[in-house]
Amino acid sequence: MRALLILVVAAQFGGPVAAEVALTDVVSERGLKGFVTVDRLPVPAEPVLQQGRTVWEGTCMACHGGNKATGAPKITATKKWESRIAQGLPTLIEHAVQGFVGKTYSEMPARGGNPDLTDEQIASAVAFMVWASGGRDAALHFITTEKE
Ligand code: HEC
Repeated sequence: MRALLILVVAAQFGGPVAAEVALTDVVSERGLKGFVTVDRLPVPAEPVLQQGRTVWEGTCMACHGGNKATGAPKITATKKWESRIAQGLPTLIEHAVQGFVGKTYSEMPARGGNPDLTDEQIASAVAFMVWASGGRDAALHFITTEKE
């Protein structure tokens, strides 16, 4: 009887649960196809990056999820992010906090247009976006050295 119960429970919970997404499944040259909603992105182990993921969902996703009209580099697309990541996280964070107009004259609004976000929240969102766009090592290095 008990064994049967366990079997039934296992069938219910071991069934069609959405497979956990891995970083390697989402990051590529052109990134994920279509608009990238947060549920398509992996959940990092590090609390700072988890916070960044939440901030990203609330403020950054609208453009960085792949809104072509805005000219925002799409999350997960390494081709769009490589040269940006090469500038280093402090520069990227400064651009995200203060706002930034790049070579194509598309505008990254200060704090993503959300003045309520603190510098720390912006930094975590940038670190998350870098982490999920080919800059995993750079993001992890940044969050561990920042803490010291
Ligand atoms: C209204 C659309 C919009 C929103 C919202 C937005 N961004 Fe951006 N972001 C852009 C655009 C456009 C660019 C590219 C600017 C360029 O290079 O011309 C950009 C570029 C960036 C860059 C790269 C800067 C560089 O030096 O190359 C970072 C980092 C960034 N955004 C972070 C964020 C974060 C973090 C958020 C949320 C808090 C956010 N963005 C929200 C439009 C947006």
